[in-house]
Amino acid sequence: MVEQTNKIISSNDVHLFYGRNEALKGITMDFNESEITALIGPSGCGKSTFLRTLNRMNDLIPNVTITGTVKLHQQNIYAPDTDTVALRKEIGMVFQQPNPFPFSIYENVVYGLRLAGIRDRRQLDEAVETSLQQAAIWDEVKDKLHESALSLSGGQQQRVCIARVLAVKPDVILLDEPTSALDPISSGQIENMLLELKDQYTIILVTHNMQQASRISDKTAFFLQGHLIEYADTKTIFLNPQQKETEDYITGRFG
Ligand SMILES: Nc1ncnc2c1ncn2[C@@H]1O[C@H](COP(=O)(O)OP(=O)(O)OP(=O)(O)O)[C@@H](O)[C@H]1O
Ligand SMILES: [Mg+2]
Repeated sequence: MVEQTNKIISSNDVHLFYGRNEALKGITMDFNESEITALIGPSGCGKSTFLRTLNRMNDLIPNVTITGTVKLHQQNIYAPDTDTVALRKEIGMVFQQPNPFPFSIYENVVYGLRLAGIRDRRQLDEAVETSLQQAAIWDEVKDKLHESALSLSGGQQQRVCIARVLAVKPDVILLDEPTSALDPISSGQIENMLLELKDQYTIILVTHNMQQASRISDKTAFFLQGHLIEYADTKTIFLNPQQKETEDYITGRFG
């Protein structure tokens, strides 16, 4: 029988050093299409570092050494001929603090499309509407698309940042604690949106919020001190973890 696999990203024995400090100590894991994977673990365990290795955002940090491979659709993204701009279009990223550009809402959303040389007004208008709808913020902003994105609330800004990522039609969306700066209502809106989007995207989410991980993720990976301790279906991680460290963490005994 041929094994069916829908894996889209595979990391194999990824080590990452900041100078001489080894922050990732051999991470091997695959991510499946159309799933939400949560990365959890105590502060400083390497979650953000690992997330950034998936679209080469660590390249922007000086003194970083990375070994191992990360493959997107079977291609090693660390191959010397990788076009990192194109890579980051395929693997978009949303950060903990909403970071809209100091432009209008409209210009924020079309930013990546303009960079790609798209000028057709109708195409841009359509992308703005579709992306803002997918990001569950269209109704709130449709009458003020040309106002500054900075005039929005934090939760609205975060959804505009998600729309900005969606507009370039990535395959994968990385989110680093996207709701930690938001109130429960805004967080809930973003969680619902991620659930709606997951059929079309692969979503990898760092979170400190255990309820959030258990509510929305299909798989959960527990990191500790640069190691991947356990990676399994979210239900297994939360109800029947196989490693003592995982159990201690999710039951609040440390971290
Ligand atoms: N830019 C950097 N330069 C040097 N060391 C760094 C840098 N970023 C992270 N580190 C170190 O790498 C380790 C992992 O950090 P990382 O930010 O990946 O952890 P994290 O799991 O995301 O933590 P948190 O939950 O607090 O966000 C830490 O020891 C941290 O000090
Ligand atoms: Mg982090």
